[in-house]
Amino acid sequence: MNRREFLGSGSIAGAGLLGRGIAGGSAVVLGGALMGAASSAKAAGYWTESQNLNNLKMASEFSMREYAKEFPELKTSRDFLSGSEVSKFSEMQRSKSNDWIKRVFSFAESALAEVPPSFDRSPEREGAFLMLDYPFIVDNMSKNTPQSAKDAWFSAMKEVYGGRSERLVKLLEGPSPEEGVDVFKFYNAGIILKSAGECVAIDLRSQFAIPFTPKEIKAIVKKVDVLFITHFHGDHTDTPLIEAFLKAGKNVFAPDPTAISRELAEAYPNNFISVYKEDGESVVQVGGALVRAFGARHLIWSKRENACPNNVYLVEMGGLKFVHTGDNGDVEVYKKIGKDHKVDVLFPAIWAKMISAITHTGAERVVTIHEQELGHQPHARVEYRWIYDQIEDMKTGGGEYDESAVPWVRSQIDEFRSVWKKDFPKFAVLARGEKIHILPQ
Ligand SMILES: [Fe+2]
Repeated sequence: MNRREFLGSGSIAGAGLLGRGIAGGSAVVLGGALMGAASSAKAAGYWTESQNLNNLKMASEFSMREYAKEFPELKTSRDFLSGSEVSKFSEMQRSKSNDWIKRVFSFAESALAEVPPSFDRSPEREGAFLMLDYPFIVDNMSKNTPQSAKDAWFSAMKEVYGGRSERLVKLLEGPSPEEGVDVFKFYNAGIILKSAGECVAIDLRSQFAIPFTPKEIKAIVKKVDVLFITHFHGDHTDTPLIEAFLKAGKNVFAPDPTAISRELAEAYPNNFISVYKEDGESVVQVGGALVRAFGARHLIWSKRENACPNNVYLVEMGGLKFVHTGDNGDVEVYKKIGKDHKVDVLFPAIWAKMISAITHTGAERVVTIHEQELGHQPHARVEYRWIYDQIEDMKTGGGEYDESAVPWVRSQIDEFRSVWKKDFPKFAVLARGEKIHILPQ
């Protein structure tokens, strides 16, 4: 079964948010949201439609049922297909309750927990991530969403994801790999790299509406040697965490510390350190790890000089080279990196020229970042389906994109297909707090 069949047109197309055409549509939505009135109007129409909670509920219920039938070997599926769950499904169809939000969060996360992340294609994981798009795009910010649904959404999210920071801490406290690097992904663009000798974090922050506890902050700071921040935006920074690093005498690097917190920048001038060289490269040694900061700019659709500074970090440790893009929009940086380095693993923001980042860094292994960032409004959260749509379009050259709204997606796909001469890159998609072990190839 391919994804288009699973979550494709068929009987749930009526839900208004599924299938190929809509995948293109979601590209329009993101571009539209950031581009201005004309495209936003189009986006608004789409989102109003998809925000019909009943549509989301039906799509979720349908997806869980189809998923369980497709992957009966998973315990999650067997539990769902057991008598009581099936009758619950029919009750659910009739009921007006918001219970589906918690059910689908739990179902998808339980399936993900059964199939650990890897660079091999996993229809089980892909199906689970696509399922998560439904509850994640509930509009908790709109005044049109009933308070009862908002409450159900918040409590379900907190219940399912509340323990994630604790789990991350436990994993972090585990033994360091003897060889290679453990990669931890957390929430949005948070990546922690842990080798035998070093532990480096980039853009680590707590989850939306679920702050790290003081105990968790303490444990993270104890384990992590240094924190790098790509740019000052709130979805990449966590002030209490930064402050704890600084207080502990550890270094935090960012293009402009004062843009994150003037107070902290002034209080800790020696270890809240500005590292940014416009169109240049700065090098920071952290124990046995070498971190290069390439000065670039955040992706925007207007003039480059209006975009905030954004470092692309290249981290060399454990015999591997990793690149974290932040929200970079400057493709020249990737060309420079690809020319001078053999990049092992790329962490690209899936909305910010991901395909160009792959094409030009030449990375054959990709761990995606920046999915479902809940501080954004639903239309700009960037669904998991973006990942799989882009992969499919890289493979086939297909995809329908509205060039006026997203001029760069079509050209990125075409460029990838004309430039890329190696095996097709391998992708690993990690849920919040998951870990994958990377060895040199
Ligand atoms: Fe971001």
